[in-house]
This record gives sequence, C-alpha cells and structure tokens, in this order.
Amino acid sequence: MADYTLRLRRYLPESGAAPYWEDFQVDLEGHRSVLDGILQAKDRTDASIGIRCSCRAAICGSCGVRINGKPNLACHMHLDSAAENAVDGAIVVEPMGNMPVIKDLIVDMDAVHWKKIQRVTPWLLPDGDPPEREYVVPPESMIDVTQTMACIQCGACVSDCLSMEVDPLFIGPAALAKAYRFVGDPRDRQQYERLKDLSEDPHGIYDCTHCFNCIEACPKDVAPMSQIMRLRRIASADHEIEDRNNGHRHEKAFVENIERNGLLHEADLLPDSYGGKFHPRAVPELVDSLPVILKALQRRKVTPKKALLHEHKAPPEVKRIFKHVHDKEERFELNLYVVGEEEHEHAEQAEHAGAAGSHLPEERSPNQ
Ligand code: FES
Repeated sequence: MADYTLRLRRYLPESGAAPYWEDFQVDLEGHRSVLDGILQAKDRTDASIGIRCSCRAAICGSCGVRINGKPNLACHMHLDSAAENAVDGAIVVEPMGNMPVIKDLIVDMDAVHWKKIQRVTPWLLPDGDPPEREYVVPPESMIDVTQTMACIQCGACVSDCLSMEVDPLFIGPAALAKAYRFVGDPRDRQQYERLKDLSEDPHGIYDCTHCFNCIEACPKDVAPMSQIMRLRRIASADHEIEDRNNGHRHEKAFVENIERNGLLHEADLLPDSYGGKFHPRAVPELVDSLPVILKALQRRKVTPKKALLHEHKAPPEVKRIFKHVHDKEERFELNLYVVGEEEHEHAEQAEHAGAAGSHLPEERSPNQ
C-alpha cells in the first residue's frame, strides 16, 4: 500500500464560509483511482465530503472533477498517475469549471450542461409517419456519427471551454457535439433547419475559438471541437448559410488572408470579414470594433505602418498547400476516431491475409 495526499477543494454552502482546501491521507495501491481515494477519505475521515459517482468504470460520466488543474473522470485516473503531477506533494482535486458548485466536488449540471444539451433538440426529427418496424439505414452511413455517440455527458469539455468562460451563453462543446450526432444522422430530415439555427445564434457554432481544450479534456475521444468544425463546414459549404453574426464570412476571410499573406495579417482581417474596406457594412462595423482595434494597437498586434504598408506575399510553400486543397474535388472528412479502429482491423486482416496468402480488401474511407 502507498500513501497519497489528496487536497480537496471544499465548499459547504450551508456554512456560509468561502471555499477552502483540505488535505486527506489515503492508503491505497497506486493503480486504484482518485475516486477510490476520495471515497476512502469519505469513509474513514469525513463523511460530509461531497462527490457524485455511480459506475466507477468511466461509463456513467458522473464523477467529472479537475485533477491537478485538468478535467478528468475521478474513476478514470490512477492515483500513481495523478501523483506524477502532484502539487507540493498533493493530488489536487477540485470541482469542474464553468458550472456553479453545489457542494465540494459536485457541480450543478442542470444549470449549464443539460440546459445546453436541450438547446440543440437532442432527438431525431425524421419526416413523415414512423415506419411500422425500425428505421433501416446502411451501417456505413452511421460511421460518421459514432464518435459523438461515444459521449458520456461528463461535462469535462464544458469545464475547460475557454469560449464559455468568456461567454457563458455559448452553446458549448458537449451540446454542439450532440447536435452533430443528429445533423450527421441520415434519418434526420431537419439538417438545414438545425444548422441555420446554430449558425444564426450569436452563441452558436461560430462562437468556438478553436482552443482545443475540449479535445484534450474529453476522456472518450469525442473531439467536440472537430464536430463543431464539421457543423460549420456542412453549414457553409453544403448549405451556403450566411449567418448574421458574420461567422461564415469571418472564417472565409481568415483563410483567404492566410492564402494571400502566408501569415495572418490582422489589419485586413476585420474589414475583409465584412466584405472589404469599402463595403458599406465595413464602416459601422469598424466603428463598433474600435475598442478592440485600440487594444490591438496598444499591444502592438497591429501597427499603423504595418497595416498600411503591408506587402501581400505568401511564400510558395503556403501557395502549394492551398493549391493542393483547392484541387481536391471532394471534401474529405477524416474521422480519426473511426480510422483508428479501421487501422487496427486492417492490421488484423493483414495478418490473416498474410497467413492465407490472399489480398487485402480495398481501403475504405470513413465517409463512404
Ligand atoms: Fe461513472 Fe466515474 S463513476 S464515470
């Protein structure tokens, strides 16, 4: 047995006191989970410790917490791994972020997470009368949504979402990944309506700032940010939805800016997002954005000289990358989650094929 120190963030609302830290010694093997450690402290030292849990097997999503500053499932993190990043010798456990704390390590999932999930109409909206028996769909057409179906609703991605920290109304990574689960489902017949709604919402798909935190936080490899980018691509490329938040135009301007300059030229980005410096919408938008522009000048992200005299010259390497992308006839959605499975399968098939002296079946893309 080994000794570990767990430093728990305590908050007892009924006491009226501010949150505080409390250390607990636990005596467990290193392969036991942080949740086991918390439950031992609760059993042996202080029964009032608040933690939510159920399956203890990384399935139910109840035990989301922050361990040493990073969101995780307490039942999914071994004590010895957590101890590697201990702070002053203690494994630090605190409640998830971006959600109000009810007690100790328990956050109010209803107030934030579940409310946002409900926002995206998390059920199928097929057309017409339901069939007499089940809906029949080719299995391949469901491959694309399997990644989002792996979500266990633990809220780890919500906890670390930087956009939500700035804009608490942002629909958020978990709910938008859920939205993709239905947008990508061939049985759903409201794809356009769903995408239009999520594009027009000022806190919708264009509110994500690509910080990648949700991808790192997710214990199930759902990669919520990738699902948000897919929603954007389908909304803009397939349905040509021009949202009133200017999200689509901004994204387009961003890509064209890099293609032209090689590196992002900030001074052009804002006017280009509104149709160019001389577009009638550009002037009011520039006036509205004055505080941001002043901040950028202050921090020397933009200088008047660079803004006015910048030479638009992307190096050949960048041009080559863009040409490669433009030359593609079809958009290829790479589902890394499924590709991983396929590679594994193919490795097994290769082994068998090698043994039998036969040929491998043709490579299949995840979206076919
Ligand atoms: Fe179910 Fe941790 S207790 S996921």
